[in-house]
Parts: sequence; structure tokens; C-alpha cells
Amino acid sequence: MASFPEVMHRTFFRTLSLLPPEGQGLVLGRYFDWWHRAPDPWRLATDDYEREKHRATLACLPLRPYRRIIEVGCSEGVFTGALAAAYPEAEIVGVDVSERALARARERVPGGGRVRFVRGDILRHRGGRSFDLAFCAETLYYLGRHDRLRLASVRLGQLLGPGGVLVAVHPWPEAARLHRYLDAQRALDRLDERVCTASPRPFAISVYGARPA
Ligand SMILES: C[S@@+](CC[C@H](N)C(=O)[O-])C[C@H]1O[C@@H](n2cnc3c(N)ncnc32)[C@H](O)[C@@H]1O
Repeated sequence: MASFPEVMHRTFFRTLSLLPPEGQGLVLGRYFDWWHRAPDPWRLATDDYEREKHRATLACLPLRPYRRIIEVGCSEGVFTGALAAAYPEAEIVGVDVSERALARARERVPGGGRVRFVRGDILRHRGGRSFDLAFCAETLYYLGRHDRLRLASVRLGQLLGPGGVLVAVHPWPEAARLHRYLDAQRALDRLDERVCTASPRPFAISVYGARPA
């Protein structure tokens, strides 16, 4: 059963998702700029749990020479930096609704031109089906109602080029609810799901492949 703070969290973001997508994106941008008023609000760079989650996520990837990578909901670019180190040849794009988070991400991961950070909303960002690897971690629970989760899942699927891989990471068991919108995408095949229960905050990593058109 969901705890009281979880219920409040869900209710708040569901209420925001009553707005049209443009309005929802605008309010989320303001909200997450405020949330990032101090650096690294989730301690993504320093918390052992977050580091272990990032390590486990990278370990789940099918072994391939990924060349074009996107991370949606990249915050201050901590995981983006890990991607840049793991794939030194790749072009990497980090997307987030918070301009304040992105400004810090640009400082954290300069990347010499091959790493870019752009402001975008998962509901509206069009990736042009050009990525061979896409990530969305700890972000879907901000989208609220079913229709927004469905739309976000369509948009995530549309980021992938032929043979592309999409990875979603969220707390378990909530991930079962969030990732089922990805499971329902006809353009995606679930290749793998790992539920990591070793920590007091279990999480699931779901890996999807783009189905041939
Ligand atoms: C908890 S952080 C996740 C950071 C990173 N993915 C990780 O797991 O290390 C969530 C991020 O999602 C961003 N976000 C929330 N709603 C979004 C949306 N609709 N589109 C894009 N980014 C969004 C927030 O600004 C925040 O930086």
C-alpha cells in the first residue's frame, strides 16, 4: 500500500496533469527550477544508492557500440556524465524541463561538443527516431494521469531508430505501474527487466528494443 507522502505526491502531479500538456510542461519547468534552487537536490552525485542504481543500469545494457544516446529527465547530468565516460565515442543529449538543472549539467559534463543539454518536456520532445539508446529514470511518476503516461511512452518509443534500446528505471513496485505503459507500446519489445531488491529502496530496470517497422 502507498504511504501518505506517496499518495500526496501522486495527487499533486495528477492534479497538474489536468492542465493541457503545454501548461503542464510550463508548470513542471517552474516547479523543477524551484526544486533545483540548491545544487543536486536528490544527491544523485553523492548518494551510494544512486551510484549503485546508475552502475546497475549501465550493467543491464545489451553490449553494442551505441553512437547516439539520449537521457530524458537528466537533471544536473550525473548519469549523463557516466554515459559520456562509458561511451567516449557517442553523441549524447540530455533533456530536462528545468533550465536551472541544465545549466549545472553543462558545467558538470562539458563533453567538448559531443554532449549537449537541451530544455524539453518528455510529452512534447520529438527525438526524430534517431537514437540507438534512450534512458528515462526516476521521471515518469511526475507525469500524472494515464493519458500523459501513455503519451510519454509513445514519445519515448519515438526516440529510437531501428534496433534502438530504451531503458526505464523507477522504484519498485511503482515501476510495475509506470512501465506497463511502455509494455503496451506496439513499437517496443521488452527485452529484460531486473528488480533490484538488495537495497531498502528497491528499483526496477526495464529494457526495451524497438520493433522492426
Ligand atoms: C529525480 S530526477 C532524475 C534524474 C536522473 N534521471 C537520474 O535518475 O539520475 C527527475 C528529473 O526529471 C525532470 N522532469 C520532470 N518532469 C519532466 C518532464 N515532463 N520532461 C522532462 N523532464 C522532466 C525534473 O526536472 C528532474 O530533473
